[in-house]
Amino acid sequence: MSRPKLDLHLHLEGAAPPDLIRRIAAERHVDLSGIFDAEGRYRFDGFADFLRVYEAATGVLRSPEDFARLTRAVLEEQARHGVVYTEIFVSPDFCGGGDLPAWREYLGAIAEAAAAMEREAGITMRAIVTCIRHFGPERARRAARCAAETAGDFVVGFGMGGEERAGRARDFAYAFDMAREPGLGLTCHAGEWAGPGSVAEALDHLRVARIGHGVRAIEDPGLVERLVEDGIVLEVCPGSNVALGLYKWDRHPVEKLREGGVKFTVSTDDPPFFHTDMSREYERLEQVFGWDEAVFAKIAAIAVEAAFCDEATRTRLKERIGA
Ligand code: ADE
Ligand code: ZN
Repeated sequence: MSRPKLDLHLHLEGAAPPDLIRRIAAERHVDLSGIFDAEGRYRFDGFADFLRVYEAATGVLRSPEDFARLTRAVLEEQARHGVVYTEIFVSPDFCGGGDLPAWREYLGAIAEAAAAMEREAGITMRAIVTCIRHFGPERARRAARCAAETAGDFVVGFGMGGEERAGRARDFAYAFDMAREPGLGLTCHAGEWAGPGSVAEALDHLRVARIGHGVRAIEDPGLVERLVEDGIVLEVCPGSNVALGLYKWDRHPVEKLREGGVKFTVSTDDPPFFHTDMSREYERLEQVFGWDEAVFAKIAAIAVEAAFCDEATRTRLKERIGA
């Protein structure tokens, strides 16, 4: 579809085309055959196994140049689907293991690749530095330090992905405080595998403006009310939820959240893992819920307002989407 789109929830490694991972693995003589199916697609069974396969695939990416190649491939693919702006989760744990000088090198390579793709394909990328919940609070603080030290035009946010049911939100409050200090936008995965209580905990302890997924908020009407009142934006990734078996398309709560007045965006999460892309997400939403141009225009307008970018970029984006 040709309408300009914004994707605010995309994991850089999770967007890695399987062919690219196989090519780099072959160059490094790493055997990754166990993580692909007969058709060459990522193979996993459920969320925990998804995280295992994800980390195995990511393990072959070992240099800033690998991440530059990955960034170019991901942005090229996003641009093909009409994405004009994307915020991508980038993890210091996979880019130098949380070491600040190494992180600067990886980030420099990623930012350079993004700038080239902006010139070549007209897509703007910003980075959300991400810690990984099941790696624990100490590594989260190292990631937050990397985020705080490199905050600026390109690094605009800090977030947390990984196993939602690991630890308590308050264990990560210090990391989020470190990232809040230089003005980074904050988001946290919650309400996907853990229930609505995990969304409330992320709001209470991490004081985030956006929630990654958050769809299980629908199970608590009081929480839905709170999301509406506080203007919290959910980064909803319906295709990801369906692929991981959380919901069937026609039972996905995004329509009820919309009717309830909750602000949300639509994103792809880890497109090749979940056999999706932004065109497909939009097509499915149109088919299943009968969403029309006005609904998609509103989603784009919410995404522009919720983006963690600077105001000049936001103004440019508004012109681009006609908001
Ligand atoms: N990392 C990559 N994709 C993720 C997801 N959907 N949930 C949590 N962590 C992730
Ligand atoms: Zn995610």
